[in-house]
Amino acid sequence: MPSAIEFPDEFLWGAATSAYQIEGSPLADGAGPSIWQRFAHTPGMVRDGDTGDVACDHYRRYADDVALMHGLGLKAYRFSTSWSRVLPRGRGAVNRAGLDFYDRLVDILLKNGIEPAITLFHWDLPAALDDLGGWLNPDIAGWFADYATTMFRKLDDRVKMWATLNEPWVVTDGGYLHGALAPGHRNRFEAPIATHNLLRAHGAAVQAYRAEGKHRIGVVVNLEPKYPASDDPADRAATARADAYMNRQYLDPVFLKRYPAELKEIFGEAWPDWPAEDLSLIAQPIDFLGVNYYTRNVTRFDAHAWPLRASPVRQTRATYTETGWEVFAQGLTDTLVWVKERYGNPPVYVTENGAAFFDPPTAEGDRVEDPLRVAYLRKHIGAIHAAVRSGVNLRGYFVWSLLDNLEWSHGFSKRFGIVHVDFATQKRTPKDSARFYSQVIATNGRVLNNTSS
Ligand code: BGC
Repeated sequence: MPSAIEFPDEFLWGAATSAYQIEGSPLADGAGPSIWQRFAHTPGMVRDGDTGDVACDHYRRYADDVALMHGLGLKAYRFSTSWSRVLPRGRGAVNRAGLDFYDRLVDILLKNGIEPAITLFHWDLPAALDDLGGWLNPDIAGWFADYATTMFRKLDDRVKMWATLNEPWVVTDGGYLHGALAPGHRNRFEAPIATHNLLRAHGAAVQAYRAEGKHRIGVVVNLEPKYPASDDPADRAATARADAYMNRQYLDPVFLKRYPAELKEIFGEAWPDWPAEDLSLIAQPIDFLGVNYYTRNVTRFDAHAWPLRASPVRQTRATYTETGWEVFAQGLTDTLVWVKERYGNPPVYVTENGAAFFDPPTAEGDRVEDPLRVAYLRKHIGAIHAAVRSGVNLRGYFVWSLLDNLEWSHGFSKRFGIVHVDFATQKRTPKDSARFYSQVIATNGRVLNNTSS
């Protein structure tokens, strides 16, 4: 019989969101536009023409939202700060009102006994910086470090957990290679440059933190284990390329000071030889790694899939979420064990994990039954416990997401929240998954031993 589930006493249970997805009021009180403001207002880019103009109206309702978090018993809250709220043009003059919003949010979280965990960049690049080339301009490392310094000086007296970037892979893949996300480019030559400048910016911000900050800083990546569809050498090589591109592209430089060799194979002449001093900047020691996990991929060779020549294979006997992602909890254990073995067992947090399912409120509107999400969370929390048992240095877990929110180019059509949001009235209704997660927190995971709950 497997040992009973119980997490270490200090295990940090939280929920996560990001600025553009929940705040609304993107131009209020002197804030500047971000590339997501621009992208969402470009016809055809976001489903149904949805935008972050109102979203969850969290910018105005943050106090109620923190009360809700307190009611759920959250120990931590991971959110991102909007660069263009604080620096409307991305650099230069600070918008005091924007900075004050985050100052108030941090204070009220602490008053409610909730640990704030800040991510400095969750995709909403200031539009003014995109006009200067955005992630393609090498100067962005300095601009990002200056913005990060502004945030450290204001909040590091109270914020103990910082992350530089959220999911740089998505920024490069969605923003510069395939074009489905802002700024919407589709260019094999740009993607490697965006990757490298994201990592340089991360390194420069960590360096700034060593000068300014007293607590802990890390980076958040999304990892998706790749399993070969067969033993055919072509499938195995395709799996290695997919793994290098998604899982090692960012972690190898940060932890091992080198890029995976497969990137040259994937990008060909578009992959430059980067200067050694850049890799030294990128490989600054970090205090923790944030891992976002949603799904896995079974991978096969596909000559037509540009530029990876690898494609996912749909599994016939699996459950898929509303975003078309296979539910595969074992992949979370495998991923965490892989991080431990490949990168020397750094302190790790699961900084996002969750699922979109269709879960309408009951006719009375006072309850949302979401059994598929409850099952998803139960399995994945079981999976992180298995990782802890295997010796992974896991310190906490954050569910994605606290609230239903703007799911990027899917607009409001995909709901990831453990709290339902009625976007017409802004009414929040905790779903059954929120109740379940509250019990997980209150019992430090022991509720998972009870199969009937
Ligand atoms: C992102 C979130 C997003 C979630 C679900 C992650 O890639 O960090 O912003 O909403 O996945 O797609």
